[in-house]
Amino acid sequence: MEAPERNLAFDLVRVTEAAALASARWLGRGDKNAGDGAAVDAMRLSFNSLPIAGTVIIGEGEKDEAPMLYNGEVIGMGTGPALDIAVDPVEGTNLLAFGPNAIAVVGAAPAGSMYNPGPSYYMQKLVVGAAAKDVIDLDAPVHVNLRLIAKALGKDTNDLVVFVLDKPRHQKLIQEIRSVGARIQLHTDGDVAGALMAVDQRSEVDVMMGTGGTPEGVLAACAIKGAGGAMLARLDPQSEAERKAIEKAGIDLTRILDADTLVQGDDVFFAATGISGGTFLRGVHFSGQGAVTHSMIIRSKTGTLRYIESHHNWNKLMQISSIKYD
Ligand code: FBP
Repeated sequence: MEAPERNLAFDLVRVTEAAALASARWLGRGDKNAGDGAAVDAMRLSFNSLPIAGTVIIGEGEKDEAPMLYNGEVIGMGTGPALDIAVDPVEGTNLLAFGPNAIAVVGAAPAGSMYNPGPSYYMQKLVVGAAAKDVIDLDAPVHVNLRLIAKALGKDTNDLVVFVLDKPRHQKLIQEIRSVGARIQLHTDGDVAGALMAVDQRSEVDVMMGTGGTPEGVLAACAIKGAGGAMLARLDPQSEAERKAIEKAGIDLTRILDADTLVQGDDVFFAATGISGGTFLRGVHFSGQGAVTHSMIIRSKTGTLRYIESHHNWNKLMQISSIKYD
């Protein structure tokens, strides 16, 4: 397998910027499918200008339900490194339709190294920063994990902030977190950003707990491999149909997955661009003559995390018909 020799995250960020620029036009307009569609189109166009031989492992669903960036779709110019690709053109489609915190996200790793979730939609996740990476246990009670995490961080449990998706399935989890005195940030959507906040020392979030999307889990793992910290996960079907489909596919529902299982090896790349802005990455700012985007890119081999502010100039771009955004 040919390992990518350069930092492909610099290419990937052009893809997430394109998705963010296209979908940000739909901010707050209440039409999540239109925003997602705009991001998918822009992302695909941008991918196809890159010298990679990519296959979408984590995409917008199966071919029949997703016309573009579907699981198994071949993308890129077909030259260069063979890559597994994970995309979420709009992570938080509801967030974009109604307000802040939506981001465009992409991960890439050498072909064959990304976990293929098959028919799984939901996954239980526990994410912490580097200082607490050796103390977490997915099978331990919530209060035990929180006490050990607090100790590893040199804090009291009531200093902790836990990111939790605000979903009915988390009622018991929320009670358990509150019972040890830890604090909670409840978010309606967006647990890729939640995982990134948990591993980012500058954020006030210390831990992410609960069940979210399986594709989002693989994307978060692409980031955590480089940003540091740890993630433990296990498939957590939310319906009988999902459980049966996973069992039929021969996937072990009891297996605990970590970031290294979700994306193997050290040639992993991640990029994210803010669409609608919020606590994590600033959203697209349109100036009339162009736009400003804010992104982060991570390369796992070096552990380098870069924040990129790009100023896009419409007048110049219109003179270059073959390149939409750069
Ligand atoms: P979308 O981008 O597909 O709208 O997903 C947003 C999200 O909140 C993810 O961040 C999260 O992993 C998943 O949905 C949770 O799913 P659900 O809303 O069905 O509980």
